[in-house]
Amino acid sequence: MRGRTVLVRTDLNVRIESGRVLDVQRIEASMPTLTTLHEAGARTVVLSHMGRPQGRPSPDLSLASVAAYLGDRLGRPVLFVRDAVGQGGENAIFALGDGEIALLENTRFHPGETVNDPELAATWSGLTDLFVNDAFGAAHRAHASTVGLARAVTARGGDAVAGLLMARELEFLGEALESPERPFVAILGGAKISGKIDVVEALLPRVDCLLIGGAMANTFFRAMQLATGESLVEENRIDMAGELVEAAGDKLTLPVDCVVARDISPDAQTRVVARAEVGDMDRIVDIGPETRALYRSIVSSARTVVWNGPMGVFEIPAFAAGTVEVARALADACDEGALGVLGGGQTASAAAQAGVVERLSHVSTGGGASLALLAGAALPGVESLSDREYDRWL
Ligand code: 3PG
Repeated sequence: MRGRTVLVRTDLNVRIESGRVLDVQRIEASMPTLTTLHEAGARTVVLSHMGRPQGRPSPDLSLASVAAYLGDRLGRPVLFVRDAVGQGGENAIFALGDGEIALLENTRFHPGETVNDPELAATWSGLTDLFVNDAFGAAHRAHASTVGLARAVTARGGDAVAGLLMARELEFLGEALESPERPFVAILGGAKISGKIDVVEALLPRVDCLLIGGAMANTFFRAMQLATGESLVEENRIDMAGELVEAAGDKLTLPVDCVVARDISPDAQTRVVARAEVGDMDRIVDIGPETRALYRSIVSSARTVVWNGPMGVFEIPAFAAGTVEVARALADACDEGALGVLGGGQTASAAAQAGVVERLSHVSTGGGASLALLAGAALPGVESLSDREYDRWL
């Protein structure tokens, strides 16, 4: 790799506050590819998006602090290139030495990024004939720095290959979906059913059991004529939820009891009620203890589990028991040899809060991307690669 420039698209879309990186999971997950290239002596140019700046520079979405974090992790400075498409930037990149790494400023500062502008992709592709896409979290987006770059590099006879993280994500999620050891259990939670209808439809024929939690369960409750008080409900999805309940038969498992509160606040009083006994002023904030026990027993007998979305408002400790219990049950199942894969930023934070991350088979760095994969959709960022194996560049 010495003397060779390599372009790497990563997903370094992390939370930053006052220049400090708040959650490092995605950066850490990108380290194997970056370290491998660094140790092989490649001149590595890293691209990533951060946030949704709408094609304009936005100082609070700069990747400068990520470059500093990467430098600390690698034990040597990472060159931060603000001028990611201009002559100044190119000169800096051409001056990189063997084993050195540069990080370009947020790709979404350019209006051409999210519309997959071929000219923008061509500017980057002019730097090298090897493109490594490691950005699983952005693989469901057909953007200039993902699909456009892969196409531009391969059109000129170069290679566009999967990075180590991309390969790992596809391996774990692919294994769970394509040849799951049974029983195969999926757990879906989070606020909205609307973003997950495709996922529910795609998973139902494959799984042995689909557990539902979080506010999305409320919409199902309403479809079953149950009162939900002041809880979050997607009124325009109630009919759809009813159809899913019909189609699912006994595969779909909904909470049997709930934790309710009058307010979503840390000092709110909570009560446990059966799902048929939610009062007019109640808000459902978590699954109840009977549901926790039921979900634990289903998860413990599973051999394959995929999980996306918390069981309640877990950010508030008084409403976190359901999510924490599911995380622990999944970790216990993994300890017994089950394959347990979790996706989505909130679910990953919940697993971290429960202290079980290390015990899980895989924590995906993709939110929307892992949902798209679970829904059976092709990922444009993966489809555009010339080679999904990563060992061609190692
Ligand atoms: C994510 O956070 O899921 C990825 O970084 C993709 O971000 P996006 O939804 O803004 O495209």
